[in-house]
Amino acid sequence: MCSAEIVSDKETVAVLGGDNVYVVTDTNVKRLYPFVFGGVRHFAIKAGEASKNLDTVGEIIMDMVDKGCNRKTTVIAVGGGVVGDAAGFAASCFMRGVDWINVPTTLLSMVDSSIGGKTGVDVKGYKNIAGSFHLPKRVLVCMDWLDTLDDREWLCGCGEMIKHALLSADIYEDTRDNLQDLIDGDPEVTERLIEKSIRYKESVVNADFKESGLRKRLNVGHTVGHAVEKLDGFALSHGEYVALGIIAEMTMLKERVPEKFYNEAIKMAKSVCNHSFPRISAKEIAAVARADKKNTDERIVIMLPTGGGEVEEIPLSPEEFTERLEKCLSNL
Ligand SMILES: NC(=O)c1ccc[n+]([C@@H]2O[C@H](COP(=O)([O-])OP(=O)(O)OC[C@H]3O[C@@H](n4cnc5c(N)ncnc54)[C@H](O)[C@@H]3O)[C@@H](O)[C@H]2O)c1
Ligand SMILES: [Zn+2]
Repeated sequence: MCSAEIVSDKETVAVLGGDNVYVVTDTNVKRLYPFVFGGVRHFAIKAGEASKNLDTVGEIIMDMVDKGCNRKTTVIAVGGGVVGDAAGFAASCFMRGVDWINVPTTLLSMVDSSIGGKTGVDVKGYKNIAGSFHLPKRVLVCMDWLDTLDDREWLCGCGEMIKHALLSADIYEDTRDNLQDLIDGDPEVTERLIEKSIRYKESVVNADFKESGLRKRLNVGHTVGHAVEKLDGFALSHGEYVALGIIAEMTMLKERVPEKFYNEAIKMAKSVCNHSFPRISAKEIAAVARADKKNTDERIVIMLPTGGGEVEEIPLSPEEFTERLEKCLSNL
């Protein structure tokens, strides 16, 4: 079961100073928080998605061997989703699997990547193609890390939080009504909405750990979002592409969504990403979306939130997907 704990900085530091722990972080987090790693057995991978690869996992495992780690060692990932995914994967391979603890330090990793036990790395440009399910023993969320996050990474997390809000009747209104305060980083609103977002993701993954049903709903905004992210060369943050994906996907299937919910969802997504849609053709987006590992047959699946926590799974032929997206892009 996933159940993240909201903790203080003192509790976090105490866990990092525990017996037989091995900490993985990245170069940015180490530069910003050098005092956290003093006297702690650790390894800092180069910050950024480019490090999320098998070489990095190999380096972590070799360093664990050099530093005398054993079956009883607990790996602690201190960083964003890149560190969590790579360190969690290394923990699942080292001596056929050792315990690990995830300490997410970005907004995205707190509300999304640290929850659910998916670990893995990219291979030859294919995201998360080598990986495993390996649940962390604990997920420790300390809000203090967020003080040093830049605007891009903040909006990135906000994009995924909007996605959760569109999926859950319980958090929808609070997020809709307080979105600007979240974007501005108001501490009270931020803490409350982060915790709600975490609990929502936990409820989904606890009900469907291996993504055979319910968990698929978390792909809202990601069919178009992921494809555009790749074709646009990752110019914006992932969460901003998710926001653009939400706008495009809901507009493509607008006739299925109640008008009020549609208008509110578009407004929310636009507050996170007011960039215009990149100039990429519907045909190119369809080709990349078609190749996504989540599609099992010829069709491209869109997960469409329709309000009140309901989501429809809509498979479209590549032709219908392209036609609908083309129409929608001319109006965006
Ligand atoms: N495992 C999952 O279920 C899951 C779910 C969603 C996303 N992901 C993965 O998560 C990754 C994205 O995660 P991310 O957005 O956290 O990216 P990231 O780990 O690259 O972090 C973003 C940037 O923020 C920096 N950073 C981290 N903590 C900071 C802090 N406290 N202050 C200032 N800077 C800080 C990092 O060094 C990096 O430059 C992707 O690889 C994605 O595939 C995994
Ligand atoms: Zn995402």
